[in-house]
Amino acid sequence: MREIEIYPTEAELMRTAAERFAVLAEWSIEARGWFAVALSGGSTPRSLYRLLAAQPFTSRVDWTYVHVFWGDERAVPPDHPNSNFRMTEESLLRKVPLLPENVHRISAELPPQEAAFDYGQRLEAFFSGQRGQPDSAMLGADFDLILLGLGGDGHTASLFPGTAVLSEQKRWVVAHYVDKLDAWRITLTPVIINAAKHVIFLVSGGEKAETVQRVLTGPYRPDALPAQVVQPENGDVTWLLDAEAAALL
Ligand code: 6PG
Repeated sequence: MREIEIYPTEAELMRTAAERFAVLAEWSIEARGWFAVALSGGSTPRSLYRLLAAQPFTSRVDWTYVHVFWGDERAVPPDHPNSNFRMTEESLLRKVPLLPENVHRISAELPPQEAAFDYGQRLEAFFSGQRGQPDSAMLGADFDLILLGLGGDGHTASLFPGTAVLSEQKRWVVAHYVDKLDAWRITLTPVIINAAKHVIFLVSGGEKAETVQRVLTGPYRPDALPAQVVQPENGDVTWLLDAEAAALL
């Protein structure tokens, strides 16, 4: 199921996103004792993370039951200016009482393929452990929430146009060299993204308006517009947009 919600300003968009995060966390913790969320990188979500790191959200969310993952990571150490971990650590993680063992960082200081393997192992350990059976991981990793952004070229996480990861059918995590960036990225694949219970795209600003229009109303061409590949099998996807990003809808 797909919902599109448009808010007049970026501030209202982010307040809604923070409220949605808190509600999903409350529901998940109530229902199954934990809230497994994959955070997005880039610049858009920074103001959401700052909201979550302040009242009322610091006390609204029961952070000790929150497990934090990432949707993707750049192949850089965690203290590198380009690190998604660093951005989220500075804007949110250091300000809320998460348990250190519940912060499942992508070890992007390792060689990329090793980082992807290690992260895949952490995902399997988490999701099979939470089910209490040793080998139930392959039943699927159903994140309670995956936050995603949208790049101007239609990419999301590190699923870039024309890359083989878009047709990955088995693996949950892949490291790949992205020619256009001249850089390695580690990313969740469509397999695990589409197993999520809830996916929220957070898109703000007029510079995204044309891409938003193409992704949401144009022909289905995920190889050119990777965000279109996000179609959760049993979950829902919500596009939270501000008026500028939705200007062409
Ligand atoms: C990343 C993100 C990426 C991001 C988009 C949008 O690692 O950069 O995962 O997918 O969400 O590029 O980035 P902005 O929010 O900075 O526009």
